[in-house]
Amino acid sequence: MGVTGGIAAYKSVQVARDLTRLGATVDVVLTHSAQKFVTPLSFSGVTGRPALTDLFSAEGAALHIRLGREADVVCVAPATADFLARAAQGRADDLICTTLLATRAPVVLCPAMNDRMFSHPQVQANLAHLRDHLHYTIAGPADGALAVGEGEGPGRMIEPWQIEEHIGRALEASGPLIGRKVLVTAGPTREPLDPVRYLGNRSSGRMGYAIAQAAWRRGAHVTLVSGPSSLAPPEGVDFVPVETAMQMREAVLGLVANTDVNVFSAAVADFRPSNPHATKVKRADAGGEMIVTLEANPDIAADTVLVRKSGSLSVGFALETNDLISNAAKKLVSKQFDLLVANDATEPGAGFEVSTNKVTILSTDGEPEELPLMTKDAVAEELLDRVCAHLARRS
Ligand code: CTP
Repeated sequence: MGVTGGIAAYKSVQVARDLTRLGATVDVVLTHSAQKFVTPLSFSGVTGRPALTDLFSAEGAALHIRLGREADVVCVAPATADFLARAAQGRADDLICTTLLATRAPVVLCPAMNDRMFSHPQVQANLAHLRDHLHYTIAGPADGALAVGEGEGPGRMIEPWQIEEHIGRALEASGPLIGRKVLVTAGPTREPLDPVRYLGNRSSGRMGYAIAQAAWRRGAHVTLVSGPSSLAPPEGVDFVPVETAMQMREAVLGLVANTDVNVFSAAVADFRPSNPHATKVKRADAGGEMIVTLEANPDIAADTVLVRKSGSLSVGFALETNDLISNAAKKLVSKQFDLLVANDATEPGAGFEVSTNKVTILSTDGEPEELPLMTKDAVAEELLDRVCAHLARRS
């Protein structure tokens, strides 16, 4: 990790800490001006390794060669306008820039500066050069309030979790998902009763968001069509927010002709109020009871069968409370899925509003596989391993 002199440097301590906890060996290099904002001690405290500052250190003149050779990925966060200019020119005047020249690892740069500086044509030209000619990943900046309270971006550095996702992608992107188009549906749908009330369900969206993020880390172009969720959209994905099942269907049907992998993890409401009221229903008008007539929503996954891209792969979900495998197997066939993730809503730690899941994965070409209780992030990886295996067999 390189850290250059911007106020966002305080966030980079978190990145170094998170990466270390995830099992990475993190060597942090600070520029002279970075040390005006954070100290080397802050980083060595979280990485357990000495933080580096000098091109000419006790280790000798080859420090940058060792760092460049050992790195699996180099991330500079924050990357100031001055650093971007020096990196774009191939300058070798400090330890970070020399390391960049010495490495052949993927490079992720996270710009951070005032929005006026960021939009300056010279900064933009430097970024274009770094991206297009040197093939560095430019992650961010984000929109939003800047440190001095002036300007609304783009200019602020992306958040630590987003930086970590970019690093993950730089490390992980390989295999059959690279460059593939992946569609994921996620979350609940909301079916309006009147302008302020709806029928919904307890889906949080976590499972689908985890799949979308993991597929992006593996190098896919991901579109996430999501019902209302309190989760932040995953990094790097095209995010299509919808409310109702009908809106989700329209969004999905507009995409599936061009997607290589479809994952239907949304908890779509099977029914919607037939006659939603145009104005808020008043308690006095409703009397002592309110009767709502529901009509069936279309089955989104089934409706895509005839429009799916030929050779594409589709994954369904099934949430059951009884006869898990036989109910799930019926859905695998009727909706023409290649893989189906079945879970039992009555199992502790599985289903809605928890961060874990206990699933059985059914496949058109093998026996059901029962996985142990694990986090939804881990389930996403297990599922994508099987998606990749299917794709590899097909090509
Ligand atoms: N699904 C869908 N559109 C619907 C209902 C379900 O696309 N209107 C998808 C889900 O995203 C999931 C799969 O179909 O991938 C199975 O969903 P599930 O709710 O378990 O099954 P249903 O077909 O609705 O059957 P039931 O509720 O009767 O079990």
